[in-house]
Formats: sequence, structure tokens, C-alpha cells
Amino acid sequence: MNFIIVPSHSTAELNNQLRQPTYLWGHMKLEIDFQQEQVYGRKLYAMYGECSKKSRILAWLRPWICPYGPLVTVLQGQDTVLDIGCGTGNLLLLLCSLGLIRQGTGVDVAEAALRDARKAASSFNADLTFSSSPLINGEFDAVSMIDVMHHIPVKDQHSFFMDKLSHVKRGGLLCYKDMNLFPLTHRYWNWLHDRIMAGQYINLVPVENILSWTEEAGFVLERSSDYSRFLYSHQLRIFRRR
Ligand SMILES: C[S@@+](CC[C@H](N)C(=O)[O-])C[C@H]1O[C@@H](n2cnc3c(N)ncnc32)[C@H](O)[C@@H]1O
Repeated sequence: MNFIIVPSHSTAELNNQLRQPTYLWGHMKLEIDFQQEQVYGRKLYAMYGECSKKSRILAWLRPWICPYGPLVTVLQGQDTVLDIGCGTGNLLLLLCSLGLIRQGTGVDVAEAALRDARKAASSFNADLTFSSSPLINGEFDAVSMIDVMHHIPVKDQHSFFMDKLSHVKRGGLLCYKDMNLFPLTHRYWNWLHDRIMAGQYINLVPVENILSWTEEAGFVLERSSDYSRFLYSHQLRIFRRR
């Protein structure tokens, strides 16, 4: 797996680099192992055996449009992981079942999704907790936020994001991924996808906002990659708290 590794000494310089369209248009090289993604899909399908057919199929399909390899690479070896907007808990279930993290906490507003997450987690011996409470206790070695920010109303995005950052331990990681605004065809496809699948009008966040908010909170950008799968364009940014 190749990421563009960016030096962390000057965040202002990095922010400038990241504003360059060439960067956003994906000259970064990230090799995704699609055979591995199929293995993840099958593994998830099996783990949701006690859940509805719809949840099983969505869990199986997820790595096809949102590859898990890059996220697994970043999060493996972290002791405790908080996954914000965890949905049915795919990522934490995968990491825990592979023995790549010790403990996972998933938070989401969708109770139905959390019920499936708990059901799937109960099928194996894992230290996983899923909660719909907005009150999160403690700090974690890593906090992940995968495709969540675009579901938050624009006026709340800054406070929502800053609140979640406060749960990263000093020296810990923030794994942020969301959908890219470019190219436009992908942006509109995404808009349509969420209009149909979630019944929502989404609010994609410009990456510049994420860079300036993390800088404000004392985080340093460590790794960065943009990659596409079909009409789904992803932007992954990994930050470390100073
Ligand atoms: C596109 S799904 C991503 C789910 C999961 N992160 C994944 O990658 O499979 C977005 C999730 O964000 C959740 N979400 C939306 N608003 C939220 C909020 N204010 N707090 C926590 N989760 C939220 C939704 O319920 C949904 O499960």
C-alpha cells in the first residue's frame, strides 16, 4: 500500500500544497488490493449472519465502493479505536475480528444500524461497544470518521468535528475519510447515491476546512491519499495530535 507521505514540519506549507488542483485530482498513488477487498466483503457477509438480508448484502458490498485496505493499514495496531458514525460497525468488526485492535467503540445516531452492529459483534469474542449517545467518554489511540461529515448540516460541521477531535489522545491518530468534491461527475453521483440510499441532501466538506480545523486543534497531517472506485472518489487524510 503506497501513500504519499508528507513531511509534518510545516502545516501551512502542506495546506498550500493540498489546495493545488493537481493534488486533489489524484496523482497520488494508492494501490488497492481488490482480491483482499473481496475477502473483507465475504468476511463481513458472514459476520452479519444474524442480521437482515439487506444488512448482510450492504456489508458485503461496502468494500467494493469504499475499500477497507487503506483504513485497515492506518488503524491496525492501535489499542483503542473510536469510530464516529460507525453505521453497522463494519470497520470495527473487521479490525477486531482480525485481531488488529484490542478495543473498539462505535457511535452513531441510527439505532437500527447499532442493533445490527451489536448482533454481529456478539457472534465472536470481541471488546466492542456500540452507542447512540452523543456523550462520549475518554480519549482513544485513534478516532476514525469515515463518510460521516457529509451527513452533518453545514452549520454544525465545525463544532461536530472539533468535538470529536477532543477524543484523540495526545500523540494519537485521526483517520478522516470522506467523499471528494472532484471530479464533478463523481460529486453528483454521490449526491444521487445518498439521496436514494439515505434520503438525504448531503453537504460535502471541502478538504481545506478539514485541514484548517485540524490545524486549529493542534493536529499535524501525516499521510494523505485520494483514490477512486467506480464513481466513488475518496479522500483520506491521516492526522496526528501533537
Ligand atoms: C455513509 S454512513 C458511513 C458508515 C460507516 N462509517 C462506514 O463507513 O461504513 C454515515 C453514517 O453516519 C451516521 N451519522 C449521521 N449523522 C451522525 C451524527 N450526528 N452522529 C453520529 N453519526 C452520524 C449515519 O447514521 C450513518 O451511519
